[in-house]
Parts: sequence; structure tokens; C-alpha cells
Amino acid sequence: MYPLSYTEPVFRPPSEWKSLILQVTNGCSWNKCTFCDMYTSDNKKFKPKKPELIEQELVTIAESNLPVGRVFLADGDAMMLPFNRLKEILLLIKQYFPQVTRISSYCLPRNLTNKTVEQLTELRALGLSLLYVGCESGDDEVLNLIEKGESYQSSLVALTKIKQAGMKSSVMILNGLGGPKLSKQHAINSARLMNEAQPDFLSTLVVSFPLGEERFASNFNGDYRQLNQQELFQEMSTLLQALELDKTIFRSDHASNYLVLKGILGKDKQQLLDKVNMAITQPQQIPLRQEWQRGL
Ligand SMILES: C[S@@+](CC[C@H](N)C(=O)[O-])C[C@H]1O[C@@H](n2cnc3c(N)ncnc32)[C@H](O)[C@@H]1O
Ligand code: SF4
Repeated sequence: MYPLSYTEPVFRPPSEWKSLILQVTNGCSWNKCTFCDMYTSDNKKFKPKKPELIEQELVTIAESNLPVGRVFLADGDAMMLPFNRLKEILLLIKQYFPQVTRISSYCLPRNLTNKTVEQLTELRALGLSLLYVGCESGDDEVLNLIEKGESYQSSLVALTKIKQAGMKSSVMILNGLGGPKLSKQHAINSARLMNEAQPDFLSTLVVSFPLGEERFASNFNGDYRQLNQQELFQEMSTLLQALELDKTIFRSDHASNYLVLKGILGKDKQQLLDKVNMAITQPQQIPLRQEWQRGL
């Protein structure tokens, strides 16, 4: 445990469990996506942290001699910080922890609109090598309904810039996001976006509503309900069938999923599809997470 005082709650991608979580901002500057309650409590109003405070925290951690190999910049969209501020933070990390091998952050596509590929390349050279992008869907109708403030095109532009800068991208797609009515187009257009962008990592989570689904469903004019297990598997099958990826690490192992899927796409596509089809046709033959084992 690091000797830092966080403004809770703090979220991080599952794969950052070993990383130092450095809170360089509090909350999310957008905070409007209708499925996301992560930063809605009063103490999570968006605010960048002053560089002096960030430096103080780095000094404290350095003095504690705890090993730091990776750093994750929190909270929800640290990449909204301007280029110069990000550069300053990365230089501080380098100064106190020259041995760090990876710095990563969540990133909204529009966080990159005012950053050039040259600037991103400079940030990459300073250690920022992985960005987690919550695309959630490649379908513009779904993206409008969830108030993501992004589109197929804006997502593609950002993912392309990340690649051009030599960084890696890890994309999140939310299973069940369009309800039954938009399930097929959500899956097909999400696959289309991934095929064009060819991200390094792709993970799918099942959309869930621990605080209730009213806010989310209110945009759907009565046309939304959560997909049942079988419908979620159907949507996953449609997505996998339409994915044409060369070398993307695919994970559907987040605690929100009923069925755990892991592999490299394209090479493992058929094997993953077989597993999903098995879950559809013979669910009793395959280990599925029970409701109580699921969570966000
Ligand atoms: C902490 S958020 C930060 C992501 C970043 N702000 C972005 O939009 O790219 C990380 C991810 O958690 C997932 N998430 C948020 N709320 C969720 C929910 N209600 N159900 C399932 N996944 C959710 C979304 O995929 C989201 O992109
Ligand atoms: S999904 Fe990301 S952008 Fe949307 S409200 Fe949550 S943290 Fe903010």
C-alpha cells in the first residue's frame, strides 16, 4: 500500500493492479455518460491536481522505498490535461523513478484533439506508452443515446493518433449497451471500428447499473432493457464473428462478464466463437459466473 491520501473512490483498469496509482486529477471532466456513476459523488468534482502536490507525493513514495515499476495516471480522463502539464508530470515521474517501465492513463478520444502526433510522440518518449480508451461502442446511434460525446469517427481519429505516436491502445467495449433493439448494430459497428483501428488490446465488459438504470434508460424512450445472459452471448458472438483483427489481445474476463474469454485475435477467433456458441447451446456444459460472483 502506498502512503498517499487519495480522494476516493479511485478506479483503475484491472491490468494496473501492480501499478502506482498517481492521482493527477480528481474525477472526470465530462462526467455525462449515462451508464457511468463512477465519479458522481460530491467529492469527485473534476479538478486537476497542482504539480507541486504531485511532486510532494512522488517524494513521499520515493522516500518510502516501495518498488515502483509502473504508474497509472488517475482519475477518469487525466489525458484532458494540456500537453505541457502532462510533460511536466512525466518529467517528475522520470526524475524520482527513472526505473519506471510503463506509464498509462484513461483517455477520451477528444482528449487528443488538441494534441499533435509530434506531441504525443514526445510524451511516449517520456514513458507514457499505453492509453485505455473507453470507446464503449462503434455505433453512432448508441453513442448518442449514452451521451458519450464521441462518434465512430472521433474514436477512430484518436486511436489512429495513438498508433502513429508509437503508443499502445487498450479499448473497452460495453456488451449490452444498446439493449435488445440496437444489439446487432452495436456489435457490428463496434467490430467495424476495431477492424479499422486495430487496437493492441480489446476488452469487453457487461454494462451494469449498481445505482439503478433509470438515468440510462430515460434516453431510450421506453425501448431499453438489460440483455439476458443468452442475448449477451448472442451479441458477443455477432461481435466476434465480425472482428477481423491481426494481433489484438482480447479479454472478456472482467468481473461483470458471465463467460470468461481470453485470446489473441485473429488467431484464436474460432476457438473463442466455439466457446460462446457452447454457452448459447449448452450452457450447462461450460463454467459461467453466477450472479453473486459478478460486479463492476
Ligand atoms: C473509469 S471509466 C474511465 C474511462 C474514460 N473516461 C473513457 O471514457 O474512456 C473506465 C471504463 O469503465 C467502464 N464502465 C463505466 N461505467 C460502467 C458501467 N455502468 N457498466 C460497465 N462498465 C462501465 C467503461 O467502459 C469505461 O470506459
Ligand atoms: S465513462 Fe469515462 S468519460 Fe464517461 S463519465 Fe465515465 S469516466 Fe467520464
